[in-house]
Amino acid sequence: MSLKEQLHTDKIPGHVAIIMDGNGRWAKKQGFLRARGHKKGVDALRKVATAAAKNGVKYLTVYAFSSENWSRPKAEVNALMSLLVSSLKKELGTLQKNEIRLSAIGDLASLPEKCQVELSEVRKTTAGNKRMTLTLALSYGSKAEIMNAVRAIAQKVHTKELSVEEINEVHLEQHLLTHDMPPPDLLIRTSGEHRISNYLLWQIAYAELYFTDTLWPDFDEEDFYKALLSYQNRERRYGKTSEQLNP
Ligand code: FPP
Repeated sequence: MSLKEQLHTDKIPGHVAIIMDGNGRWAKKQGFLRARGHKKGVDALRKVATAAAKNGVKYLTVYAFSSENWSRPKAEVNALMSLLVSSLKKELGTLQKNEIRLSAIGDLASLPEKCQVELSEVRKTTAGNKRMTLTLALSYGSKAEIMNAVRAIAQKVHTKELSVEEINEVHLEQHLLTHDMPPPDLLIRTSGEHRISNYLLWQIAYAELYFTDTLWPDFDEEDFYKALLSYQNRERRYGKTSEQLNP
């Protein structure tokens, strides 16, 4: 039986988050410039997003550029920004064909004007697509996101819209950039690194974590199904005992 055939269609994670790591190492291994690895990374993202949408994932959220990535060499930052613009143009057809709505989270105002314009175009064009939402985390950092939420809540306390005693998890979640999506069920990180790297820190509180040595440009549909199968074999206890869940 193929990996895809082994999937339980009633246990597909609703939200999958991915840290797409290893583009640079993939390029270096083949003697290419790092930018070539990112370009191949877009091919991997197309394959995985299409497979995710076809198999019932409702939200796919990928770490495309962290707030810390701005400190990479200028040439690499520029290459990534150009790749973002050209990929958005090129992939619109794939998004439409697979009924994928594109979204983005992060400090989007810090992106070059061209990226902002292209992003907002593609977001507008795909806004009616209902099969899956693909969210690009761009210039994203989870600590800054949480800090901004805390500031907004503090402001509401200051203006007496909210009392300190009333503050709860829902308030904080409403101020996160992910307020319109459920929390990730599964977080995948490629390339053998076992870190979270300031990604969705609050949101992954109960996500299942999946790490693979495969470098992102080599990650394909089969690798994605392997991650889904691993997820389907986990028991999500949310702090309870196995006996409580299976009386
Ligand atoms: C990590 O690999 C990857 C990134 C910083 C960028 C991820 C971007 C893509 C996969 C493609 C871009 C997506 C869009 C939407 C244009 P790394 O460079 O840190 O690899 P390394 O750890 O091997 O150096």
